[in-house]
Formats: sequence, C-alpha cells, structure tokens
Amino acid sequence: MMNEFLGKQNFNISNQTVSESCPSNIALIKYWGKYDNQIPANPSISYTLNHCKTNTSMEFLADEKFSVQTFLGGKEELKFAEKIEKYFKNIEGYLPWILKGKYIIKTENTFPHSSGIASSASGFGAIAKCLMDLDAQFSGKSDEDFKLKKASFLARLGSGSACRSLYNGLVVWGKTAEVAESSDLFAVQYPNEEIHSIFKNFNDWVLLIHEGEKSVSSTVGHGLMNTNPYAEKRFQEAHENFKTLKEILKNGDLQNFIQLVEHEALTLHAMMMMSEPAFILMKTGTLQVINKIWEFRKETNLPLFFTLDAGANVHLLFPENSDSEKIKEFIVKELLQFTQNNGVVKDMMNF
Ligand code: DP6
Repeated sequence: MMNEFLGKQNFNISNQTVSESCPSNIALIKYWGKYDNQIPANPSISYTLNHCKTNTSMEFLADEKFSVQTFLGGKEELKFAEKIEKYFKNIEGYLPWILKGKYIIKTENTFPHSSGIASSASGFGAIAKCLMDLDAQFSGKSDEDFKLKKASFLARLGSGSACRSLYNGLVVWGKTAEVAESSDLFAVQYPNEEIHSIFKNFNDWVLLIHEGEKSVSSTVGHGLMNTNPYAEKRFQEAHENFKTLKEILKNGDLQNFIQLVEHEALTLHAMMMMSEPAFILMKTGTLQVINKIWEFRKETNLPLFFTLDAGANVHLLFPENSDSEKIKEFIVKELLQFTQNNGVVKDMMNF
C-alpha cells in the first residue's frame, strides 16, 4: 500500500450529503493493458471534455450497516451498487471510515445513457471526488492539491482511465520520462505552457455508430493483453509515441498530430483483433466513416481526423478555427448517415 495515501485512523463520522461533477475524457495515447492493482502497462494521455459529465450526489448515513444503493438517472441500479460496494471494500485502507455507514448514490450523465460514451471515467471520477469531500469532513481537511491527487488515485482504483478525468486540459497517467511527476498511481496535468495554442481549442464530435452494450468489456480487453504476443511491442511504442507527441504539442505540428492520434486508435483496435480470442468492436459504419474522413482530408487538406475508444463510435477531432465551419458541414452532410439515429454528441476542449 502507498503510504502517502493511507487514511488517518482518527476520524469522526456523521450524516452528510455531498455532490460533485466530473467530466469524461478521450485518450490520444491509449491505456490498453494493465498489471495488478490497476497499474497501467504504458503511459496514456487524454483530453478532458467540456460537456460530457457525470453529476453525482452521495448521502452517507453514519453508523448504519454498510450498504450501497445507487440510482442512475432516477432508476435504481443494482449491478452498479454491487460494483461500488466491492470498490469501497477495496479502498478501505485509504479511507478507514468507508465501511462504517450506508450510502445512497444518485448519478446522472449529461450525455445519452445509450451512447456508449464511457461513463465509467466520469462516474468513478465523481464518486472519488465525493469520497474526498466526505473524508475532509470526517478526518480533517487536507490541502486542495493533495485532495485532488488522492481523488485521482482513488478514481484509478475504480476504473483506470477515470484518474485522468480529475484534471482539465491534457492529462497524463503512467510513468514516462517525458513528463515530470508522472506516475502509475494517479494522473497529472500536462504542462499548459508546453502546449501550442492550436491544441487548446479543439472539437470532439462523437458519432454514435452503435448505441448499446459492447460485446467485450474494457476490463476483459485489458486482460487479453496479458497473452497477446504483440503486447510488449505495443507498450514500447506507446512510450516512444510520448516522445514524439511532446515535440508535436510544443510545435503545433497538426499533420503529425493527426498521424499519431489515428495510429494510436487503429493500434488499439488491432490489439483487439490480435487477442486470443480475437474480438472486433468496430462496426461497418466505423470503417465507412474512417474511409470518408481519409477521402475528405485528401481532397480538401482540412484537419478532420478521428480517434476511437473501446467501442464502435467515432470521435471526430478538429481544431476550432476558420476552417471548422466547412468541416462541420461535411460531418452533417456526409457522416451523420452512418450513425444509428442521427446520433452525435458535440463536445469540445478549450483551456
Ligand atoms: C480504450 O479505464 O475503461 O478507453 O481500468 O478496466 O476500468 P478499466 O478500463 P478503462 O479502459 C479504457 C481504455 C480506453 C483507452 C483509454 O481511455 O486510455
């Protein structure tokens, strides 16, 4: 156990209700593969989104028997409660009061539930923030920087990518020589002054190609990296990509940014195809959109490109500037047809 985050044994619990909000994030260099205790196999970096968020309220009833009740958009969710119960038991060493009461957790996402946009990142991010609010009440306040760092540490233990959602802008998780203070245990903000302005005002429009459950969960996907013969090469490449990306971010080299980000997305899905058993999360529409984007770029030279999560949806990335109107028109005219219900979530990053 990490000493820095171990909980104080003298605490004073009482009935409390806290609420917090946490955004989702989209990775540019992907986390795919992990070791015990949620240690990532390689460093990753993501943009924290502006609009897609989870809002969570947590009611703590002191001295009642430990139990967790969860509501998602007003509807009771038993499966989620089970997951949170397990999670709370797992982090007791860091918050020694955590099993000493009953929880009623109400959460809602600002993005459509069926969209397949990862709610685990924003969800666990918001829960970890609520827990640190309770901890401040019960064990005494710690300084804001430490509170955030410990929230990121706790969020990671719920879902790896969640630890990146605690910070704005570009956020790094996983030890890399390229980013000072980076750690496998929590996320850190990528230094703002090292980022060219072109990357600080960006669109992320998520095309909802397939709404609904994925055939293979992220957790199972990560596990399959343990036996993937290409895994070591992939982890090494992620490290090298950090070096390349650092230069790109500094210089504002959009062309190489596009190349690196698309390569990362395709490598993630290639790893899935090379797992045993193999699986494919892209759908026909995913491939049609990718081909359309490539054609569009070839014809117009405009900087529209994509990344993918562990799912079929396509994140359309493009800087917000004088070119973006033409890109938006193209998306509406040519790409929306590949979604299930004209589904698109328009998000952005500006910082
Ligand atoms: C493809 O964070 O959802 O989105 O740690 O098992 O909860 P667990 O996995 P999760 O994996 C996210 C994988 C990814 C890439 C990324 O966000 O870096």
